[in-house]
Amino acid sequence: MINAALLGACGRMGSLIVETITCFPDIQLVAAFDISNFGKDVGEFTRVGNLGIKISDVRDLEAVLKKNQVDVLIDFTAAMATAVNAPIAARCGVNLIIGTTGLTTEQRTVIDTAIKENQIRAIISPNYSIGVNVFFKIIREAAKYLADYDIEIIETHHNQKKDAPSGTALRAADVISDAVGGKEYIYGREGIAPRGKEIGIHAVRAGDITGDHTVLFAGNSERIEIRHIAHSPQIFAKGAVHAAEWICKQKPGIYSMDDVLCL
Ligand SMILES: NC(=O)c1ccc[n+]([C@@H]2O[C@H](COP(=O)([O-])OP(=O)(O)OC[C@H]3O[C@@H](n4cnc5c(N)ncnc54)[C@H](O)[C@@H]3O)[C@@H](O)[C@H]2O)c1
Repeated sequence: MINAALLGACGRMGSLIVETITCFPDIQLVAAFDISNFGKDVGEFTRVGNLGIKISDVRDLEAVLKKNQVDVLIDFTAAMATAVNAPIAARCGVNLIIGTTGLTTEQRTVIDTAIKENQIRAIISPNYSIGVNVFFKIIREAAKYLADYDIEIIETHHNQKKDAPSGTALRAADVISDAVGGKEYIYGREGIAPRGKEIGIHAVRAGDITGDHTVLFAGNSERIEIRHIAHSPQIFAKGAVHAAEWICKQKPGIYSMDDVLCL
């Protein structure tokens, strides 16, 4: 049995992950952390009810991880929190599934260094859904044939999302840029903004939309739009728990959802 801990247990994704873990037979939740609600049962924030696991103060992360012999820590919190907590978990020899988006290049370097120095296993993915990872593959192929077309990425998310553009939109831009030998990115346009050879990236925030991503390849007289629509955040939770089980069976290193899904 794999022992999992969860950071951000009271959040939108955290509560879904608590529910999802109970449906997987080979992994169990043994600890949960947040910045408030200490001592409350983690199940209180879900539809499953009490689970006998109290929410711990994230300041006790190291002690609680060690006490509960945690194999893997799942983190869906905020970039500043992940940059501090992932290295603590790595030093405890705990594997990582990081779903937090909006990590800066500097934060990502700190996390990657801690993973390598402590020889743990980790996945850091902006999107744990199967469909989005297939979508990345499709846009990579399309970009190879459409490098000269105007390329725009439009993402739409709920009005509570903090970072913009989404980590998935940024990953889509990197996938396309790598496929065509490098592209500049422009975030939105305002005023006099003539189009060059860039990838345009646009973020829309509205209502309770789970997450839409469209890549538009437009030439003269035609266009292709490749779109992924998440109907429910459940798909991210399921992917993250599946990844948590998978990572514990791998050699130390940093893996991607392509590896998990054999894409
Ligand atoms: N990779 C994916 O598939 C995927 C999918 C959805 C959301 N996300 C990302 O996951 C993150 C969380 O999203 P959400 O919608 O659940 O947000 P949320 O705001 O609902 O939840 C975040 C939770 O983290 C807690 N938190 C903040 N700082 C913390 C700290 N230092 N230690 C412990 N807990 C802390 C908050 O109190 C809150 O309960 C965001 O970065 C979001 O973009 C990723």
